[in-house]
Amino acid sequence: MADVGREVVASALGGPEVLRVREVEPRAPGPGEVQIRVHAAGVNPWDWKSYAPGAGARPPVRLGLEVAGVVQAVGPGVRWYSPGDEVVAWPVTGGYADVVTAPHQVLVRRPERLDVVQAAGLLAAGVAAAHAVEATGVGDDDVVLVHGAAGGVGRAAVQLAVLRGARVVATASGGWHDCLRRFGAEPVTYGPGLLDRVREVEGRVGRVSVAIDAAGSPEALDTSVTLVADRSRIATLVALDRAADLGVLALGHGAGADPGTDVRDAARSQLAALAADGSLDVLVSGTYPLEEAAAAHVRSREGHAGGKLVLLTR
Ligand SMILES: NC(=O)c1ccc[n+]([C@@H]2O[C@H](COP(=O)([O-])OP(=O)(O)OC[C@H]3O[C@@H](n4cnc5c(N)ncnc54)[C@H](OP(=O)(O)O)[C@@H]3O)[C@@H](O)[C@H]2O)c1
Repeated sequence: MADVGREVVASALGGPEVLRVREVEPRAPGPGEVQIRVHAAGVNPWDWKSYAPGAGARPPVRLGLEVAGVVQAVGPGVRWYSPGDEVVAWPVTGGYADVVTAPHQVLVRRPERLDVVQAAGLLAAGVAAAHAVEATGVGDDDVVLVHGAAGGVGRAAVQLAVLRGARVVATASGGWHDCLRRFGAEPVTYGPGLLDRVREVEGRVGRVSVAIDAAGSPEALDTSVTLVADRSRIATLVALDRAADLGVLALGHGAGADPGTDVRDAARSQLAALAADGSLDVLVSGTYPLEEAAAAHVRSREGHAGGKLVLLTR
């Protein structure tokens, strides 16, 4: 019999208090699948949104979209990976676990430059950012306004836009400004008066031509539609319901949004390559033992975690 492992599930719809650790027998990999011994699992806002009241999920809800770990077993037909390979994977189902089984296509090798904890935070936020940068057509003559630039998605979007040669104006609280300057962005504090502060920065960097919203506040889209004339170059990853009314791009799942499946799948290996050569960094602001997933969710829900939160299995 296979070893029994732990996994975290939402036992009911609600807040972090519904999370439970249960024992499961890991599923053997089927054809084309890989079984991963999880060392670290990235925490993403989707994880706690997925079991919120009204989410429509049927408990128990398995959690965890992205992991970093070591290949433990491969199923028939898998030639690219062998036991012992260090990998990252997104999207997986039930990544908050000691062991997860997933199709080989969702894996990439862990970039050596990232340790296993950082690597667990590379893909979910990274592919969303890559989708936003691609969908809005960011190029080297653009000035890109990134809302929520202190978060996992926003920070990745800032770095990817800078890599494309764009100038970037990034909204974040003051504690993140030095970090964003190091990435090559012009930081601006969000909150009342944002439009005026961005206009002041426009005097130095040029007119904003693209906006990417990873914050979801009314202010983010209001500012974006005021500044950017071409609404097909404004994308939100959060305020999906409002996007249609405003005629801006809604990216992700739900409310008629563009899931960007092909772009995101292609981004997986591109992000790993950028992380491998040091062009893309992942910042981690907190780690928690797997059993303390609820504490990680409390912090993520507060909305100011900044760096990635990561669960550790050992
Ligand atoms: N549609 C999709 O496909 C998709 C994919 C991934 C994520 N998302 C969504 O994108 C959002 C961000 O995800 P994430 O992983 O980046 O979250 P995160 O890492 O938890 O980051 C959240 C950041 O948002 C910043 N923030 C909070 N209120 C803000 C405001 N009013 N204006 C500007 N920034 C603000 C905070 O920065 P400070 O520390 O500076 O306050 C915080 O660090 C979430 O709602 C998530 O569900 C959507």
